Amino acid sequence: MKARAPSLRAYRGSLLHFLGDPGDGDAAPAVQYFDDGLLVVENGFVKAADEARMLLPALPAGAQIVDYAGHLLLPGFIDTHIHYPQTDMIAAYAAQLLDWLDDHAFPAEHRFADAGHAAECSRFFLDELLRNGTTTALVFGTVHPSSVDAFFAQAESRNLRMIAGKVLMDRNCPEYLRDTAHSGYRDSSALIEKWDGRGRLHYAITPRFAVTSSEAQLESAGRLAAEHPGVFVHSHVAENLKEVKWARELFPQARSYLDIYERFGLLRERAVYAHCIHLDDEDRQRMTHTGAAAAVCATSNLFLGSGLFDFAAARRAGMRTGLGTDVGGGTSFSMLRTLAETYKVAQMRGHRLTPWRSFYLATLGGAKALGLDDRIGSFAPGREADFVVLRMDSTPLIARRMKTAHTPAEKLFALMMLGDDRAVGATYIMGERAWGSL
Ligand code: GUN
Ligand code: ZN
Repeated sequence: MKARAPSLRAYRGSLLHFLGDPGDGDAAPAVQYFDDGLLVVENGFVKAADEARMLLPALPAGAQIVDYAGHLLLPGFIDTHIHYPQTDMIAAYAAQLLDWLDDHAFPAEHRFADAGHAAECSRFFLDELLRNGTTTALVFGTVHPSSVDAFFAQAESRNLRMIAGKVLMDRNCPEYLRDTAHSGYRDSSALIEKWDGRGRLHYAITPRFAVTSSEAQLESAGRLAAEHPGVFVHSHVAENLKEVKWARELFPQARSYLDIYERFGLLRERAVYAHCIHLDDEDRQRMTHTGAAAAVCATSNLFLGSGLFDFAAARRAGMRTGLGTDVGGGTSFSMLRTLAETYKVAQMRGHRLTPWRSFYLATLGGAKALGLDDRIGSFAPGREADFVVLRMDSTPLIARRMKTAHTPAEKLFALMMLGDDRAVGATYIMGERAWGSL
């Protein structure tokens, strides 16, 4: 165990966090930005966040103040969709989704039958998340229960708030990656019993996507979801046109691809669906009505040629929305790079994401999509002190650009368009420094 931190510590720098969705306008009352701010952390939880001049007089004499002047502190990034077993095949050259799965994703996942490989990859993966300032993620394992044991053991040893699950798939995939409706139910139940709610960990019932599960398996996933309403559901929907067509052929009775999941009881609060590109307005209404959330995965959607998420339609429908890197279909662990690509995807559909809303989506918006905003995603008092310190000078070009950016919004925008892992100066978990170069 690490040595216990002094119970009270303060961090001084520019602070940014959100009280709610800042919307699409430039004037954004939900934004809390303090140029010379102070974040006060007590026993791993946020005690206060405000202008330094407001909080300094009340700090106890001798309280330790960590000086991050000139840098930006914000709640840790939240990645609402990522595959840890695809770390080793990120950036694999392929056609589109279904070929990419056959040629690269499935063979890479085969290696996770080996618990040693799963443990080693989990370590690297979590290091990489922290190096990129990501403090919570919703994570696919593989079909092997041991892949989830390995991941959770690593996450627990670092005191991380992480969500993961064993993949359910019993058809239309290689024999070596199949479970059955029965074994998937049994193994998921055992993993829920063992890990859900242990420390900061949560379990996610994880049918890969409708085409790799039989009706019997989706039924058993729905049964698990009903038996464990607090547990997450995590899957993919409406990513690629061939995939959509195939799903419709396999489940002709369903109104739409999304409707397949609803029929099996898999649309509800704490259900998160990656991509949600090829939905119609009724699907979007069903997402909103049931409380399910979309994980928008811009780098992946561009890389695999899947399509462009419709932010305006999602907004009109009031859909919960977070951002995902979708590594290894996605091409970067960096939420900053993901924000840049998300901005461009929205532009291509005639929608402009403000810098405020972008950073909101990567923090509190993600927490709301996961239903965890009472614990993470902001600097409201009582939240867990998972936060990131961003440098505004991580490359010569960014340092130069900051000199001509005058407002905080201009600076944030340049940072998200140009920044990457090099901008992450330090990452803190429950007030403990977990990674840092600053
Ligand atoms: N659909 C089903 N499985 C996958 C996967 O591993 N990655 C992506 N991007 N889409 C999927
Ligand atoms: Zn995915």
